Amino acid sequence: MIIKQQGPLRGALRVPGDKSISHRAVMLGSLAEGETRIRGFLKSADCLATIDCFRRMGISIEETCRELTIHGKGLRGLSAPAGALNAMNSGTTTRILAGILAGQDFPVTIEGDESLSRRPMKRIIDPLSRMGCRIESVNGNNCLPLKIKGGRLSGIRYDSPVASAQVKSCIAMAALYADAPTTITEPYLSRNHTELMLRGFGGEVTSFTDPETGRPAVTVMPEPHLSGCDITVPGDISSAAYFIAAALLVPGSEVTLTGVGINSTRDGILRVSRAMGGRITVENVRTEGGETTADITVSASPLHGTEIGGALIPTLIDELPVIAVMAACAEGTTVIKDAGELRVKESDRLALIAGHLKAMGADLTETEDGLIIRGKPADSHPLRGAVIDPHGDHRLAMAFAVAGLAADGPTEILDAGCVDISYPGFFADLASLQGRF
Ligand code: S3P
Repeated sequence: MIIKQQGPLRGALRVPGDKSISHRAVMLGSLAEGETRIRGFLKSADCLATIDCFRRMGISIEETCRELTIHGKGLRGLSAPAGALNAMNSGTTTRILAGILAGQDFPVTIEGDESLSRRPMKRIIDPLSRMGCRIESVNGNNCLPLKIKGGRLSGIRYDSPVASAQVKSCIAMAALYADAPTTITEPYLSRNHTELMLRGFGGEVTSFTDPETGRPAVTVMPEPHLSGCDITVPGDISSAAYFIAAALLVPGSEVTLTGVGINSTRDGILRVSRAMGGRITVENVRTEGGETTADITVSASPLHGTEIGGALIPTLIDELPVIAVMAACAEGTTVIKDAGELRVKESDRLALIAGHLKAMGADLTETEDGLIIRGKPADSHPLRGAVIDPHGDHRLAMAFAVAGLAADGPTEILDAGCVDISYPGFFADLASLQGRF
């Protein structure tokens, strides 16, 4: 895919449904009794992998162009699949599914593609083992494939070393099958969609600040009666982020993104864009199924550097590649720290962001857990076009497409089809905002 400067981005766009919420809706819909109808489901490769896993465990899932209907069979209604379950490229599928499988009385193996098979699974092996699940990394490297033999589990208290919603959600799912309540604490609050949705299905979940440690905590009660429900999935703020960044950077742009989820555990991109001087208005705020949605209007703005770390990181973890692009086109220095998790995403994102931004002429330093980016204002031509290999990482492909819009000369994104992992139609939506339908 070749990206060139093409003039301002203008108009309105509804980005596809939230990936995290779509995964969870299929999973909880399968474990609930009765029908769950999901509107706005994200039909991306990652979420289709989740659907495939649950179909293979006997759940009937009907797809129409407007909605998805899951015929849930209750907490103990899954059946043993023939052969291994394949999570493809999806860390969310793998880790949350593992928590569900920990409560089943049949053995299962989860496998995935090459990138997923390099990602760390010790973070779920440890707590699930403590709960009494037999879970083993087949190659002994704490990575996929994982062999899981679940059954009756014990409720535990788990102080997670990482602020990871996948880890928290994995344990929360296993907690449904435990003999006592389970409490999970984390260093910073990660996205809370599982907690909100579990409550919506009838689960008993309490979120609080742990009085001993001051850490965000959640307690999940076992054996709830989950009932099917209707879910409307908001637009994915992680997908909206590419257009927020593009509209800020390309002179003369004004873009409205409608129906975007702005849950406060996900809205770091808005906070950082504003801190960098971005003109952003949020209107028509409404709440559905516990999730807050709004229309976001972004106008091209001169940006300046900022500091990003600590509790802010989990609220924008997937947006850091495109934030780094914004920082390269902002006056002054941006420091990103406490973001070591980026090294264990679909790729080592810190290394690849640094390498690609340097190839485009940016001045930056890669640190162990972040980046120091010495930016230049967008009107001083901070980037030049380059050939970018995203290494199959969807978020890098989209972030560097945005960099290409701000760069002098053409940028070629190799293997651009990898955007289908979270945003099929990304390039068509971008073209529509540039007046090219
Ligand atoms: C996700 C959690 C985050 C995020 C991922 C989706 C989720 O991962 O990066 O894209 O849906 O729970 P971690 O839990 O590893 O931080």
